[in-house]
Amino acid sequence: MHNLWQVHTDKFINEKESIMRNGNVYQIANGYMGYRGTLDEFGPDELVGITLAGLYDRVGDAWREPVNAPNGGFTEITLDGREISALSTRIKKHHQSLSLGNAVFERETDFESRGKALQIKSTRFLSADEPNLGVIKFSFTCNKAARVRIKTGIDYNIWDLNGPHLLKLTAKKKSGTLLVQSVTGEASKKVTVAEVIDLHFGKQTHEAGGNKNLRVIELDAKANQTYTFYKYFAVVTDNDPVKTSVHEAAIKKVEEAKDSGYDECLSRHNAQWAKRWEHCDVKIEGDDEAQHALRYSIFQLLMVAPVNGSANSIPARALSGQVYKGAIFWDTEMFMFPFFLYTYPEKAVELMRYRIKTLDGARRKAKTEGAGYRGAFYAWESQESGDDACTYFNIGDPFSKRDLRTYFRDKQVHISGDVAIAMWEYFKVTGDDSLLLEGGGEVILECARFYYSYAYFNKDKHRHEILDVVGPDEYHERVNNNAFTSMVAKATFEIANAMVEYLRRRHPDKLKSLVKKMDITGALPVFREMADLLYVPQPDETTGAIEQFDGYFKLKETTVKELKARMIHPNEYLGAGQGLAVPTKVIKQADVVMMLNLFKDRYTEQVKKANWEYYEPRTEHGSSLSACAYAMVAADIGKLDWAYSYFLKTAKIDIEARYKVYVGTIFMGGSHPAANGGAWMTVVFGFGGVKANAERVVINPRLYKEWKSLQFNMFYKGDSFNVKITRNDVTIIADPSNKCNRTFVVSGKSIECVPGKRLFVGYR
Ligand code: BGC
Repeated sequence: MHNLWQVHTDKFINEKESIMRNGNVYQIANGYMGYRGTLDEFGPDELVGITLAGLYDRVGDAWREPVNAPNGGFTEITLDGREISALSTRIKKHHQSLSLGNAVFERETDFESRGKALQIKSTRFLSADEPNLGVIKFSFTCNKAARVRIKTGIDYNIWDLNGPHLLKLTAKKKSGTLLVQSVTGEASKKVTVAEVIDLHFGKQTHEAGGNKNLRVIELDAKANQTYTFYKYFAVVTDNDPVKTSVHEAAIKKVEEAKDSGYDECLSRHNAQWAKRWEHCDVKIEGDDEAQHALRYSIFQLLMVAPVNGSANSIPARALSGQVYKGAIFWDTEMFMFPFFLYTYPEKAVELMRYRIKTLDGARRKAKTEGAGYRGAFYAWESQESGDDACTYFNIGDPFSKRDLRTYFRDKQVHISGDVAIAMWEYFKVTGDDSLLLEGGGEVILECARFYYSYAYFNKDKHRHEILDVVGPDEYHERVNNNAFTSMVAKATFEIANAMVEYLRRRHPDKLKSLVKKMDITGALPVFREMADLLYVPQPDETTGAIEQFDGYFKLKETTVKELKARMIHPNEYLGAGQGLAVPTKVIKQADVVMMLNLFKDRYTEQVKKANWEYYEPRTEHGSSLSACAYAMVAADIGKLDWAYSYFLKTAKIDIEARYKVYVGTIFMGGSHPAANGGAWMTVVFGFGGVKANAERVVINPRLYKEWKSLQFNMFYKGDSFNVKITRNDVTIIADPSNKCNRTFVVSGKSIECVPGKRLFVGYR
């Protein structure tokens, strides 16, 4: 099999679609920014994008979206006066690769132009050690003597979906450094890119024009001699904690990088990546396809994990562009967060701090949405302030080109509970209550308060109900008693109650001041009642099926295939208003099944199986979030073949880049970090059968038949463990630095893991 630490291709297909998809597959990122996997000579038409985390801008009435920075990585070359580009020159050979070990992108292209052969090689990385920094090594060799001109510098022709976001763009050259300075239109935030090169040949001049700030290097290249130079670029914005001005900071960063040199920058970068993999890799023995796809998925998450101290989160399309407004959805808490919680807790903290930082935005949303509510109603599409970026007309109809009313923003209320659940998971799995004390507790109570004000008391049935919502299945809007949503709301009350109890015991003063600050004394007893009396649809006594929402069982029976055959336009949206799925039982994504996964301890195997079998043929999997839920529940009920095929679907989505790119009139191309997180969860929680709670870690292995072993690391309560599952036994190594013994239960056998000791448990 191929190198399991790399993706590569020997093809360059000169088509927009292929360039766009490869831009996603080969992108690199370092949490501060992403750089799409495009070639050095490319521009905005090829979707070159350096997308910045946490910096957003809005132009007029268009969607607010993250800012793309000027491209400090730009280089183009001419040979005897002819421009050389993958878009226009004959290519004899092309190879490009992305190393999963350290997020280094390489391209090597052999061109032929008027009887001469020119090879271009470049290597690019975004430093994992210095978040603002990008580094490039560029070489070329011609087989015959030739006149070569290189233009390299900063291209500020920027690809935007709803731009332009950067105004007053000015190009400067200060000593040896090129600068492009600008400010965002909405908030006047400065964004500066600086670039320096380390080059020792040719004659250099400066050229600015056509939105490019360039150095022009001319030389008579000798036959078969390789010429190499290094580029360092830095992006610095007003969001960075810099002590000097933004442009001075940018200059300093590139100068320092140049002084350190390429090898030193690369070795610092590599050291950071080595640390990440040391704890985060998962090894699947016996199945290279699964191993490769899983490693690529983990790699995607590691690349986009927020910079420490930034309190940023991960958007639904990560840093692969401006798709989905660069917004943070429930994807983060429900699909990505668990990976970080178990393998890279310092990043899990950032994700939670982001929700604490945006609590005021969630409060504003609660007050102003619909009839007005109390508490925290988190944004469906959240940006830096927590105000909702989702519009009421969020999908364009490809027929009429009009915008369709969707209720994602005002009715997808499960988002608040998703946040509360993740916040509590953090506490349970790490044992660290600092987040609760530093705002997380307030988040949980505000989420409970929101559901309390959203719920309706049905006097006849003597129960609270959550009505008029959109569940994960967005094809059926404004439904009553959606099982997933109601269960998440109920769990939010349970968590709020458990947390109040915990604070009462451990931090009574903190509880007192919190209750006073939030003026919530009266609500606390009601939360207990809500937890007891909130209605959640129950399994049918004969079939075991749980009705997704009131009336779902009465909808029209059809198959996904039949439904799709009725589509008139390939991109038509199946939900909203007249959507084909609306009157039918066809659902967009896992909904009840998602609930059965999230609350797996509350349902029997029989109920899980009945619902998996009921909903699976009715699910379109129109969202990349769906497959992993089906995979995990299938693993849970021992249907490992079912689990495996859904696992591959979730794990291969980005490596294969075979996803839909338009929904309605909206461009959706980009990476899928939620599916990547789902791949990790399927392997560790699904096939590994891991489930931790506040008392112990439970492992019920369900190894897929092709796998000889599965090995991974996990943190539990701040202690580190290596777990290896083979067909017959489980070996757990507790790190010598662990603080104390921890209880693991392997297939029902309870064992104590002593720091520094290896334990071996047979499970068959
Ligand atoms: C899904 C949502 C998801 C969003 C972002 C939508 O297509 O239905 O559940 O949060 O995409 O990934």
